[in-house]
Amino acid sequence: MSPYSYKINGGHKLCGDVNISGSKNAVLGVLAAAMMIDGVCNLENVPDISDVHVMIELCQTLGATIETEKAPEGSLTLHIDPRTINTYKATGAAVSKIRASYYLLGALLAREGKASLRMPGGCNFGQRPIDLHLKAFKAMGAKGANPENLNDGIITLEASPLKGAKVFFDIVSVGATINVMLAATKAQGKTVITNAAKEPHIVDVANFLNSMGAKIKGAGTDTISIQGVPVLPGNFSYSIIPDQIEAGTYMIAAAVTGGDVTIHNVIPTHMEPLSAKMREMGYIVDEDDDSIRVCKEEDAEITGTNIKTMPYPGFPTDLQPQAVVLMCLADGMSKMHENVWQNRFQYIPELLRMGADINVFDRIALVEGIKKFRGATVTATDLRAGAALVCAALAAEGTSYVTNAKKIDRGYEHIVDKLRSLGADIDRTEEVYYEQDEEA
Ligand code: UD1
Repeated sequence: MSPYSYKINGGHKLCGDVNISGSKNAVLGVLAAAMMIDGVCNLENVPDISDVHVMIELCQTLGATIETEKAPEGSLTLHIDPRTINTYKATGAAVSKIRASYYLLGALLAREGKASLRMPGGCNFGQRPIDLHLKAFKAMGAKGANPENLNDGIITLEASPLKGAKVFFDIVSVGATINVMLAATKAQGKTVITNAAKEPHIVDVANFLNSMGAKIKGAGTDTISIQGVPVLPGNFSYSIIPDQIEAGTYMIAAAVTGGDVTIHNVIPTHMEPLSAKMREMGYIVDEDDDSIRVCKEEDAEITGTNIKTMPYPGFPTDLQPQAVVLMCLADGMSKMHENVWQNRFQYIPELLRMGADINVFDRIALVEGIKKFRGATVTATDLRAGAALVCAALAAEGTSYVTNAKKIDRGYEHIVDKLRSLGADIDRTEEVYYEQDEEA
């Protein structure tokens, strides 16, 4: 596919209704989990985004049979039969395209007793080690689970058998929690994870596995216990939860354009860390059972705020760049403290080109409110950074090009159509582009 950008003529208030798609991070974990079952399953509400297509391709390369059906509203339904898997190796180049390919380590260990994985890719915002995953697999009896066993970027683990263990994480890690949950589901005996991550997609992966026959308790709390089972019968349909980060991005897009948008198919409790901050800043955020309306009074004063990103239920790091855009258009000074990733402010030079006033001191960004963004040509340095730049461009005076837009399409289903339906002037174009990967 040719490189493309998003061209946005800013200054249109977003108004109307938008539907949120299935959660990217949940479906990536669930797809890996589906590779472990001993029957068939259907996955519904799967977002039609490029990361999902990469994960489907990875699973098919293992030998799994996956048929994709497009639902009328645009999402996908997958019919999955993993019984045709014929290898323990996930070592092709596609593995490096997404971070979540590391879930295949846990899934293949559980299924085959052996797993080979090329080191995963994903957004580059600082060191992204998998030492916690490996330490836990080692505790469960896997041989080869040392970073020094990397051979040409490939790690191979073997466990005969994989045994339940006590696993304590000294850092809260979403990926390690899910990976250990996967492996433990078919291990011999009981695994207890202490200081587990509590993100909504962890609960979704556990619910999926339980519906297939697993015995997982406590997902969504900091202690998860998993009683291993020899067989996961499957033969079930499962619907993926709504995407918390996509929903938050539309809430922020509505707010910064001074619009009035109702966001449907959300779980309002998942949005609380953002909703609370937005109310504190002066926006109206009204919740219903499965929708949230964001708007503001005509002459409401929007004030600056302080945010520190934290594991769930704290403020999500994946909404940090978008929230900085919100801060830019507030009165006075705001402070963003990035507490999860080492280097997640790479997009700030792009916002400065649009007129932002931000100073970064290590993991803290001090944001001085401005009246308006100016249109500019900017580059999506990663997925959520790209989404933030789209939000800024929607609010800006003049035309912006957000280049490297394929990064945004990793995680936002039909973003152009959805924003247009809310009144945005946005187009996909090959007029201006910049392939970041070629320069990196
Ligand atoms: C997941 C999300 C990502 C999100 C992040 C934090 C997916 C596919 N990606 O990434 O969008 O930004 O959670 O909410 O779901 N760490 C270690 N050793 C490890 C693992 C992690 O030190 O073995 C550290 C990381 O460097 C980071 C912190 O733990 O500082 C959190 O990382 P983690 O929760 O594991 O993030 P991911 O699962 O990779």
